[in-house]
Amino acid sequence: MSRSSTVVWACLLWFVAVGSSYADSSYNHYRLPTSVRPEHYRLEIATHLDDDKGFEFSGLVGITIIAFENANNITLHAKNLTIDQTLIQVKSLDGEEQDISLDSIEVNPLHDYYIMKLSKPLVKDGRYLLKMPFKADLNKNLFGYYRSVYTDKSTGERRWLAVTQFEPTAARLAFPCFDEPDMKAKFSIILSHDKKFKAISNMPLESQTPLDENWVQDEFQETVPMSTYLVAYSVNDFEYDEVTLKLKNDVVFRTWARADAMSQVEYAGWVGPKVLEYYETIFDIKFPLPKIDQIAVPDFSAGAMENWGLVTYRETALLYAKNVSSTSSKHRVASVISHELAHQWFGNLVTMKWWTDLWLNEGFATYIASLGVEHLHPEWDSLKEESVENTLDIFKVDALKTSHPISLPIKHANEISQIFDAISYSKGSCVLRMMHLFLGQSAFQEGVSSYLKKYAYKNAEQDNLWDSLTETAHKLKTLPSEYDIKKIMDSWTLQTGYPVVTIERNYIDGTAAASQERYLLDTRTSRADQEECWWVPLSYTIQEESDFNNTQPKKWMECNEGVKKKVNFKSLAPKDQWVIFNIQLSGLYKVKYDTKNWDMLIGTLMGKNFINIHIMNRAQLIDDALDLAWTGDQDYDIAMRLIEYLRQEQEYIPWKAALDNLKQVNKILKKTSQYDVFKKYMKSILDPIYRYLGGLNNTENAITSERLYEIKHKVLISGWSCRFEVGDCIDRASGYFKEWQSSENPDEKNPIPTNLRSVVYCTAIRNGYEDEWNFLWERYQNSGVASEKQIILSSLGCAREPWILQRYIEWGFDENENSKIRKQDTYIVFTSVANNVIGFQLAKDYLMENIAKIYKYFDPDTTKISRLISPIASQMTSEKEYLEMKNFTDTNNEYFSKSYQGVRRALESIEINTQWVTKNYEGIGERLRKFTK
Ligand code: BES
Ligand code: ZN
Repeated sequence: MSRSSTVVWACLLWFVAVGSSYADSSYNHYRLPTSVRPEHYRLEIATHLDDDKGFEFSGLVGITIIAFENANNITLHAKNLTIDQTLIQVKSLDGEEQDISLDSIEVNPLHDYYIMKLSKPLVKDGRYLLKMPFKADLNKNLFGYYRSVYTDKSTGERRWLAVTQFEPTAARLAFPCFDEPDMKAKFSIILSHDKKFKAISNMPLESQTPLDENWVQDEFQETVPMSTYLVAYSVNDFEYDEVTLKLKNDVVFRTWARADAMSQVEYAGWVGPKVLEYYETIFDIKFPLPKIDQIAVPDFSAGAMENWGLVTYRETALLYAKNVSSTSSKHRVASVISHELAHQWFGNLVTMKWWTDLWLNEGFATYIASLGVEHLHPEWDSLKEESVENTLDIFKVDALKTSHPISLPIKHANEISQIFDAISYSKGSCVLRMMHLFLGQSAFQEGVSSYLKKYAYKNAEQDNLWDSLTETAHKLKTLPSEYDIKKIMDSWTLQTGYPVVTIERNYIDGTAAASQERYLLDTRTSRADQEECWWVPLSYTIQEESDFNNTQPKKWMECNEGVKKKVNFKSLAPKDQWVIFNIQLSGLYKVKYDTKNWDMLIGTLMGKNFINIHIMNRAQLIDDALDLAWTGDQDYDIAMRLIEYLRQEQEYIPWKAALDNLKQVNKILKKTSQYDVFKKYMKSILDPIYRYLGGLNNTENAITSERLYEIKHKVLISGWSCRFEVGDCIDRASGYFKEWQSSENPDEKNPIPTNLRSVVYCTAIRNGYEDEWNFLWERYQNSGVASEKQIILSSLGCAREPWILQRYIEWGFDENENSKIRKQDTYIVFTSVANNVIGFQLAKDYLMENIAKIYKYFDPDTTKISRLISPIASQMTSEKEYLEMKNFTDTNNEYFSKSYQGVRRALESIEINTQWVTKNYEGIGERLRKFTK
């Protein structure tokens, strides 16, 4: 057994062990029984925010249920709720007079079940009303119904608010419910609270009734049928801006924030309605609710949450402060809102049957959002960049043996939170884009729309999507009639990984053959033993055509019954011409050519017509060449000669591809004696582009928000340039920072160009000492702009003083009421210290010595622990370090119950680094020297 799979086994055994102690629970399956289903919830909740009851909520839920069979029990979810079982009532709604009493209650903590054993069975087809009272603390854990806090600027007072976060399985922390996505029901929500607060929920307010002098009760309109994880409510003292979208159905849009942040909501108020309108058009389905509230919550675990009609956001994901926030942060806001609003169809209207198909939510929302942002801001030209970024990201993540299929069995709540990962989001989005491109615009759009219409207010699994698309594609004749989407797409969603396609050209007779095998970063595994195959859409162009517009497959590489078959080309290209496969990275596959083809490609890239090769394919060539060199599939010489062309490349996407790859080499080399040569090499390739982009100068006027990628490019290049001491980068950064330090009122007046702040802050802190650090820490505390605070947090980790870094990590995990760092931001602090060459050891020791404390700190959202392990592991490069991490994770197994996927990936990444060092370390110096100009 491989070392990484032992971890899985250890984890599985641990579950079984925990599970077996409840084996005598009368119901122990991970899914609810199907004998009863909810139809309607009447949910009444009173919220106490720092009043005589402290922080508490209490309520009464009345669930109308239907029995599908005779049933002796009612089993639903409830967790950490106090339920007075003597007050539970069950009564028939079909005219029977008597209530059904309860014989006993049983709980199953493994699956959070609350099992009510009835004195008399429910009768098939009967309707019943189940009433349960409950109460709990309004916790600070960012899950369930929780509390958040902020400081009011004018009074300096702390203000509290209450808000929900239910996905994936936290509705059960807020009220007893059938907490599975296919248990859809309608909800009538009634919130009572102190009248100094406002309450909002999924639906518009219907009526408000005063209960006494200070207490009011708000009743909201009944919802459409929906899943529990999408229910939401909040009690707060926020303000809002209202925009009514003048559309066919007048959706009222309100953007909510704390009063001090209301100057930052305008952009979100524009994006929301505009992208909603676009989605209504492309899906040909109206948004069914009368309103959408979008609210910026100061303490928030995820980035945002798509609750139907009440979308919740981290402040950085909703608020944009003109003249303070960067253009990238504006892009982030557009992108997050577009993502959450895409969910209003993909996820809310049509929901996955079970978490197995989470990707139908997250993959779609990610892909559709990239179309949404392109529609909002055509001048940004962001679709290309987002597509490349997703694809390159997946090329790395999914080349691990420890990766997983897009669609996979889920048998425990601990597994659910772990699949909100790059596979569900980015790979999901990549395979949808691939399908969009090979089906063509009309078939994709029409097929998707018919799927949404067919399953509206219901649940679906991926086969339902495949059926709708096959039907449409055959009707529109954009897919050969002997092909069906299920066959093709199952190879992408049910298998882990993706292929590398090898093109073998015969330069004498002009023929060629293409074959496939799974691409793996771990080179100890023999490729030939990999049996998987994929349906690969082969698009290509040859030098004299250079047609990079046509992304349609010219041939399919088939994989019938899992049998790999070579594709033969009678005459692919004249012998003196290159060929490029996978136009615009339209498919999720790498391409390996022979040396002659690479040489011809390098020839073009080095020449004056290099831009004839599409920008996305330039990025592809860089990434493929560097990956194939990394794994030893091809000689490093090819890759190094290829990236030499960067000296004339002026665009962002290819540079991003190159630097993302070099980042890993940098991580490995930075503590070795060869770093000197690496630094010289990096300096020599960065120098021309740093100069070309005008260095780290104030380009605020020249670079407007129209040219997003020019800005991103400048930030990327200057970040690297300051790190490698290129040109005047450090001097300029320090200059800007000093100017800010000497500003009379630095909290009001910051002379540093907004887009360059991340680079300037980090560089100034890296090259400064206590004064700079304290100055920036003070700005952090005084700033009311979340995106600015976030940049500061990650820059503070650039310091070089161990004691400052150690103290900073400790502050990051401070549980104290007065802690300045929010739980949601701890990973920013930790990651920035861990990625710092001096901070690495401190971060690693902190993690390993305090894992129990860290677990408690994140509980119940301990999936976040994998975010701490990954930056540590990615810098470990030896067998010894592997054993250290392995030993640590094995002995502390219990703390990784919700992050074991991350642990497995981390361990594999150390093995991969170690293999690289063994293979390449020795020759690296000489090679780098050869290419240093
Ligand atoms: N549905 C998720 C929120 C979520 C994430 C709930 C993880 C539970 C666990 C939401 O739609 C989402 O995907 N948010 C992203 C931001 C998005 C723009 C990629 C997030 O939170 O990172
Ligand atoms: Zn999402």
